[in-house]
Amino acid sequence: MPALNGLRFCLHTFGCQMNKHDSERVDGMLEALGASAVAAPEEADLVIFLTCCVREAADERLYGQVSSLRNLALRPNSTLGRRLIAVGGCIGQRDGEGLMETLPNVDIVFGTRSIASLPSLIEEALTKTTAVDIEAKGEGFSSALPSVREHQWAAWLPITIGCDNFCSYCIVPYVRGRETSRPMEDIVAESEGYVADGVQEITLLGQNVNSYGRDLYGSPQFAEILDAVAATGIPRLRFATSHPKDLTQEVIERFATLPNLMPALHLPAQSGSNTILKAMNRRYTREHYLELVRALREACPDIALSTDIIVGFPGETEEDFLETLSLVDEVGYHQVFTFIYSKREGTPAAAIDDPTPREVIQDRFDRLLKVVERHAYEENQKDLHSCVPVLVEGTSKKNKDILTGKSPKNQTVHFPIPAHRSVDQLLGTIVPVSIEEARTWYLSGRVVE
Ligand code: SAH
Ligand code: SF4
Ligand code: F3S
Repeated sequence: MPALNGLRFCLHTFGCQMNKHDSERVDGMLEALGASAVAAPEEADLVIFLTCCVREAADERLYGQVSSLRNLALRPNSTLGRRLIAVGGCIGQRDGEGLMETLPNVDIVFGTRSIASLPSLIEEALTKTTAVDIEAKGEGFSSALPSVREHQWAAWLPITIGCDNFCSYCIVPYVRGRETSRPMEDIVAESEGYVADGVQEITLLGQNVNSYGRDLYGSPQFAEILDAVAATGIPRLRFATSHPKDLTQEVIERFATLPNLMPALHLPAQSGSNTILKAMNRRYTREHYLELVRALREACPDIALSTDIIVGFPGETEEDFLETLSLVDEVGYHQVFTFIYSKREGTPAAAIDDPTPREVIQDRFDRLLKVVERHAYEENQKDLHSCVPVLVEGTSKKNKDILTGKSPKNQTVHFPIPAHRSVDQLLGTIVPVSIEEARTWYLSGRVVE
């Protein structure tokens, strides 16, 4: 690999946790080669974008940001004599070389499985002006690369990459490729390393962790991965995301048997209407989904459920939408990520015409938000006056005297810095907090001394 001594880079990351994890690897790899990270693009020789194209809004953000770099002066003492712009992630993978036609100031394009090529692409762009690599090489896991973690106490650990589900609205299978599982030994070895390093929380990642292992010899099950990673003694274990069609009773039972598996599950429903679920190619019914929720609550009565909902899928009627509203009401989620359907070229749903006016979809979206907020508030009330262990993540953006962190149920918890303790002492530790206030999006309280 080429040495990159003295090179300064600035990394902008959009999209899901998989991109955030890739971003930690890009950072680690470049720093290992002698480059250093800077926060502002004006101080950088190389600006890297790890992009997302799951919805149109994410796409547009990239165009604005790349274009605005055009007139930015070079940093004083720049070693390259020009500023390189590299676009990776899902837009890089989707558009490849074509991206340079839409955005002529882009110098390097790399794909979701070609992160390790970046150092040689930088070298190539410096000699040949531009460089592109969107080929999948090797196994494609960026986890073999060195990493600079966003937080020392938390680690994202991909167990699968890619997706084979082809939900009819979704572009991810086209830009992340076929589902590939990492061998169990690698996952366990990486987890053991984190535990030795003092990491408090591991989040296992995959577009659908529940289908882990189908491509591996002996077809190891996701529940076995949970057992093996939990056995490393990691204080907190989480995973995302779970496709309801593949969530097994074995995995559900782990919420009862593994004390370090946190009582929170993100289980995207997308819709509450069987007609729409079918058109989305989700391959489960509303009834099956509700049965999963029942089984989860039986295994772990206090489990906090969250979900993703798409409003305005082509052909969604008022009746379909009411089914979604009633599903959200019936489950009582802690948190719901709500999206308005966004047409993605190349997906099957993009071919379906939809006469539903924009205002009707916006009105449905607003009605959904009201139900979501009511339940988020009600669910948080259940923790009022209880004591919850909080993993401290930093100070509040609005008030430096207030610390913020996450409860086992993944709620945001705010509390004042206790007397005689410093922020540095508390960062990345788990402290007991007595909850005195429960709002829609957060809890607040005081550390129990
Ligand atoms: N693999 C994960 C996450 C996929 S992307 C999963 O299956 O849950 C995250 C969310 O974006 C999806 O759950 C879906 O709700 C939303 N999404 C995906 N494609 C979309 C589109 N075309 N329009 C609107 N929302 C979309
Ligand atoms: Fe997209 Fe469906 Fe795969 Fe999730 S499971 S990434 S929504 S195709
Ligand atoms: Fe976006 Fe790619 Fe993730 S499209 S949501 S960054 S897999």
